[in-house]
Amino acid sequence: MTQPDDDGHWTHVYEAKPPNTVSWYQETPEPSLRALDRFGASATSSLIDVGGGASNLVDALLARGWQDLTVLDIAAPALEASKGRLGAMADKVRWEVADITNWRPPRKFDAWHDRAVFHFLTEPEQREAYRTALSRGVTDGGLVIIATFALDGPEKCSGLPVQRYDPVSLAAELGDGFQLIDGWPEEHATPWGARQSFNWCAFRRID
Ligand SMILES: C[S@@+](CC[C@H](N)C(=O)[O-])C[C@H]1O[C@@H](n2cnc3c(N)ncnc32)[C@H](O)[C@@H]1O
Repeated sequence: MTQPDDDGHWTHVYEAKPPNTVSWYQETPEPSLRALDRFGASATSSLIDVGGGASNLVDALLARGWQDLTVLDIAAPALEASKGRLGAMADKVRWEVADITNWRPPRKFDAWHDRAVFHFLTEPEQREAYRTALSRGVTDGGLVIIATFALDGPEKCSGLPVQRYDPVSLAAELGDGFQLIDGWPEEHATPWGARQSFNWCAFRRID
């Protein structure tokens, strides 16, 4: 089995750059919070933030009283940055250093959140492995929120090629077990003011 972050790309990114200087940084993860609210996830839901990096989403959810939170990322320094920022509150969160394409979820979550991770899986086998984890990791009727670069979004992120999606093509990737509830565009502003087109989708896990 490969180790998380074999080539060290993501570990290096988080060692080299303060979290608030990367292109995907958001001070407040408004699009994610809005989506969770809109599709009925609440503080009593369990949630995994897949490829959560050093995102402030976990801070915002803790502040709203969420109690069953897991953040998974391939890069240990990303999670260390979040733990450092949260201080004692970090003990309320489960932290997993893992490659999502190798990870076997030990349990199911009511909500699966992925902002800007799935689009890095440019090989069909990687996406198949992600789907396996997703299928094992989400409750029946559970909510899946995935944000990728949109068809008119950047072709690369962090120096890596990405696969861009619209709601139809993302739904086709997830397959029959996940019903598309809605898809919508978002324009993200990077810390230096560049605009990036995102495609957000919400799915329900169905039998
Ligand atoms: C563009 S960043 C987005 C981070 C976070 N979701 C956010 O919105 O701030 C992509 C993240 O995915 C993580 N990542 C990339 N490939 C991964 C994989 N195969 N398994 C788990 N995490 C991965 C990276 O370490 C990085 O933190």
